[in-house]
Amino acid sequence: MTNEKYAIANWKMNLQSEAETKELAEKIIEGLKKINYQNKVNVILMPSYPWIKVIKDLQQKSPNLFAIGAQNMFWEKSGAYTGEISSLMLKNLGCQYVFIGHSERIIYLKETNEMLNKKLLLALKSEITPILILHPEEKNIENFKKDLIDILQGISQEQIEKIIFTYEPIEAISTQGGKIPSQTQLFKMNNLIRKIITDYYHIENPVQKIKLIYGGSVNSTNIRNLTIDVSMEGAIVGAKSLDAQEFVAIIKQLI
Ligand code: PGA
Repeated sequence: MTNEKYAIANWKMNLQSEAETKELAEKIIEGLKKINYQNKVNVILMPSYPWIKVIKDLQQKSPNLFAIGAQNMFWEKSGAYTGEISSLMLKNLGCQYVFIGHSERIIYLKETNEMLNKKLLLALKSEITPILILHPEEKNIENFKKDLIDILQGISQEQIEKIIFTYEPIEAISTQGGKIPSQTQLFKMNNLIRKIITDYYHIENPVQKIKLIYGGSVNSTNIRNLTIDVSMEGAIVGAKSLDAQEFVAIIKQLI
């Protein structure tokens, strides 16, 4: 476990206008200015593509409060890929992070391990920090091991330390039932993810070198139980990141 924590707002496809996005971000910024979290919690806002620029403008007005990330990117650098967005476009817009492997994209868009692997390689090459989301199932651990190793093909040990791994069980997501894992399950999956990576890369001090966060129905009441208490370094926050007060309260719990 590193000392830094992460609070990542996953706004998904929820904010429909620039005005709505700006209003929420401004309220979050107002809240952030009242708490002392810098050097302890990395706050990352992940808007939909059309609203990245408005968040960037707000960031320029209030620097050093948060970073910006994108919810997805394509695996090729540029070219004839209608409707896709490149890592360089994201960089030019000011994105420092990108989600890779969110279960909603795997379920609705059928993203495969090979696609995730190519995206991961390109994000790292483009110096955008990938937030790699994993959803192991207790009954299918052998498959999960294979999937994770497939996704990590071609990634060096040095690059592994740059990835933010996320344990996000699908059934824990608020829109998928919100069944939060028990502490035993959290410890088990935390150890499992770290062990697969450690064994594969022969990493000596995995707890210090591998960044691992949690996702799924996080709120200001359960955040400590789901993260710090089980040696995870923060969380992806979906539904509750649409409520500025609650999102700031979550950040406060991570300090
Ligand atoms: P949730 O979403 O916090 O609403 O469960 C988390 C996510 O899907 O990343």
